[in-house]
Amino acid sequence: MKKQNAEGDGPSMKICICPGSFDPVTNGHIDIISRASKLCEKVIVAVGNNKVKKTTFTIEERMGFLHCALVNLPDVEIDCFDGLLIDFAKRKEASAIVKGLRAVSDFEYEFQMALLNKRLDYNIETLFMMTNVNYSYLSSSAVKELAKNGGDIEGLVPDCIKQKVMEKFSAK
Ligand code: PNS
Repeated sequence: MKKQNAEGDGPSMKICICPGSFDPVTNGHIDIISRASKLCEKVIVAVGNNKVKKTTFTIEERMGFLHCALVNLPDVEIDCFDGLLIDFAKRKEASAIVKGLRAVSDFEYEFQMALLNKRLDYNIETLFMMTNVNYSYLSSSAVKELAKNGGDIEGLVPDCIKQKVMEKFSAK
């Protein structure tokens, strides 16, 4: 059941952006995206495609992983962006950027980004959602570290991408 606005004729937030590198997407990301989709009419998952930032998975792989993991969420769209996140959010007419927070260590960086983005566009809010406690230790880097060293990533990433993530490292 989606949250209704004061008139009761629609959700209070129309478009929200869930941004990230998703290198690769984890079950922690999926948890945040699914919870955001209950609050917003549409969630746009925005995959950062900064050519300078080196990623393990290509933009096509990262978006493909998201497509297969989010196939059951019809109100979620997957897109990519380069340049500033706030410009992407403006182009998409988003009301809010939704980000997950795992620990105090995430806060400093996220706080800076949120304030910079607010300075660039006062009308777009950054909202923080606390991680599901089951995923508080989970990150894309940890998944890659495990996969690289033959550790088990079952339950940490969506089932449909598990094999592809492992293959990336076994091929090296
Ligand atoms: O999953 P990540 O690596 O934390 O995602 C970071 C991402 C892509 C959301 C962030 O790097 C970003 O917003 N990049 C775009 C550049 C930008 O707008 N920076 C903020 C103002 S300096």
